[in-house]
Amino acid sequence: MGSQLQRVKGTRDLLPPETTIWAAVEELARRHFERYGYREIRTPVIEPTELFVRAVGEATDVVGKEMYTFADRKGRSVTLRPESTASVVRAYLENQLVTLPAPVKLFYIGPQFRYERPQKGRYRQFHQIGAELLGDAGPWSDVELLAMLVGLLRALGFAAPTVLLNTLGDETSRTEWAQAIRAFLEPFADSLGEDSRRRLEVNPLRILDTKIASEQALLEGVPRLEQFLSPASREHFEGVQLGLSRLGINYRIEPRLVRGLDYYTHTVFEIVADGLGAQNALCGGGRYDRLVEDLGGSPTPSLGFAIGLDRLIEVLPESFRASCGQQAPVLVIGAHGASALEVLELAEELRAGAIATEAELSGRSLKAALKLADRLGCRFAVVLGADELAAGEVTLRDLGERTQRRLARGGLVGHLVGA
Ligand code: HAM
Repeated sequence: MGSQLQRVKGTRDLLPPETTIWAAVEELARRHFERYGYREIRTPVIEPTELFVRAVGEATDVVGKEMYTFADRKGRSVTLRPESTASVVRAYLENQLVTLPAPVKLFYIGPQFRYERPQKGRYRQFHQIGAELLGDAGPWSDVELLAMLVGLLRALGFAAPTVLLNTLGDETSRTEWAQAIRAFLEPFADSLGEDSRRRLEVNPLRILDTKIASEQALLEGVPRLEQFLSPASREHFEGVQLGLSRLGINYRIEPRLVRGLDYYTHTVFEIVADGLGAQNALCGGGRYDRLVEDLGGSPTPSLGFAIGLDRLIEVLPESFRASCGQQAPVLVIGAHGASALEVLELAEELRAGAIATEAELSGRSLKAALKLADRLGCRFAVVLGADELAAGEVTLRDLGERTQRRLARGGLVGHLVGA
């Protein structure tokens, strides 16, 4: 016998009953998004590498160190998607969705792949529920998207989600701000860690994200974007805040929130959750007004978010978990002369009547079958024997109350539906 095969590091098997919870969350998200006019898009998990290099940015950790990139058999470089915004924009352009009335509103649910060091809440294959709105520049779209996101979390039982909010301004504000940060930190370059020193050259904004305490101390006096924000950017940001207040959405401005992907402009946000340890970002998103253009389309201001589904499930409120219970099955048991096929036939009648039903087909004794019913969590067992068959009846045992009665077979579904 060969050695036992194991799953790839950083990936997980999702097993029942946990998969029931996943399916319920996904189902709720679908219904919620559809209420806002979003429709589902499914893009391939594999894309040309160049898509992510151009969209997410070469200087980001995601593209620089975390992609599952390989050459296919013809030597073309392909990548397992590390995120889906780039794919959605590619699909939007490739399928001429630009001809649809703007804004185009799409959502997706699916696996993403990043070669990160696995830890609690961080996997190499993880899953996102995301939404993208393409083709509107105004702050009210930001507000509506955030209302949809916060509404979903509320529907899942999170009490009062707080949006951590920031703006990165437009291209000019952002470039000037990046230069100011570089100028401010350069004299301290020797005190910075290796990652931040590299970022000082390629992407100084990302240093603001540092988790290293000594670097955080250095950042105390770092220039704020506010000083460089253009009047139009300021007005947009104020609009978003006004709208959030008006709709009763909790938010807090986080001047150092910069996000890890390069396509963002203006509004960026995250929602964090307790109980996740260091990987506490439950979801993140923001505006990417230049991305469609950068990928070859015409100017199409856009925005979106993605929720980390693995993390969401990890901290899912008990109230929602409890509501995901499945219907307890009924077990049909053959006794004294009823064949397995007759058991199967009756089980099919119950299933046709929308009753969750297990059929005992392996010839267990009545005692063993009742024990099985117990292990399956059944409330009822239906016993079918030669007697019952001859009379067109069944014996229904209530396993909780430990009672049993004979019923006409034709009335069984009605009886169980009401039970
Ligand atoms: P992101 O912040 O890179 O944004 O990822 C969104 C969420 O995915 C994170 O907040 C986290 O919950 C989850 N996540 C990320 N990496 C992992 C991992 N290795 N293991 C488990 N969960 C993870 C984006 O991906 C953007 N595409 C969001 C967006 C959409 N922006 C605009 N539109």
